[in-house]
Amino acid sequence: MSATVQQFLKAIAARRTIYALKPELPSNVSISDIQEVVQAIIKDTPTSFNAQGNRAIILTGDSHKNVWNSVVDAIEGESGKKRPTSARDEAYGSIIFLTDDKTTEKLQTDFPAWSAIFPSFADHTTGSAQISTWTAIELLGLGGHLQHYNGYVKAALPEGAIPQEWTVQAQLVFGTPAAPPGDKSYIENPVKILN
Ligand SMILES: Cc1cc2nc3c(=O)[nH]c(=O)nc-3n(C[C@H](O)[C@H](O)[C@H](O)COP(=O)(O)O)c2cc1C
Repeated sequence: MSATVQQFLKAIAARRTIYALKPELPSNVSISDIQEVVQAIIKDTPTSFNAQGNRAIILTGDSHKNVWNSVVDAIEGESGKKRPTSARDEAYGSIIFLTDDKTTEKLQTDFPAWSAIFPSFADHTTGSAQISTWTAIELLGLGGHLQHYNGYVKAALPEGAIPQEWTVQAQLVFGTPAAPPGDKSYIENPVKILN
């Protein structure tokens, strides 16, 4: 197998959930490096009919702290507060993935025969952007974990930060790794070739 493909597969395998974070960036990484990565991935992730409904914003500093503090306040029960509290206190920032509902609605109008499937295509393409971004930022030396406090996060964003018709899909919380990821087990899951 080519060295490039091996490297690609290695990067995919190296991406892990890292909850133990420090609220800083590795010394050789700047926030504009992260912005560049996210921008490129949002641009190059394929979308149904090339409709380009993926969106992302990056929270750092007070924006990151305030949003996660609002999530902590809004969630009931101690166990539900654990990840938002860690995001607020132990992470440097968060990448918020969104989809533009207007793009999905336009696809539904333009291609009514496939109307029912476009919302799930929006889910597929944001998921693809999320995992590519997660893989890329960990290649940069960051650690990250993926959260889904979607409605809470949307409600906590500053007024006017995003258009109302953007749906929050996920939060990739990131910082400098403070500990390696936990063990991970794998099922037997062979991919068959049918001739
Ligand atoms: C679609 C998707 C949703 C996930 N949602 C959450 C989540 O809400 N909270 C969380 O802590 N981890 C979440 N995860 C992380 C998974 O639990 C994790 O990826 C899985 O256990 C495998 O571990 P790894 O990321 O270290 O490979 C999610 C992962 C995926 C792909």
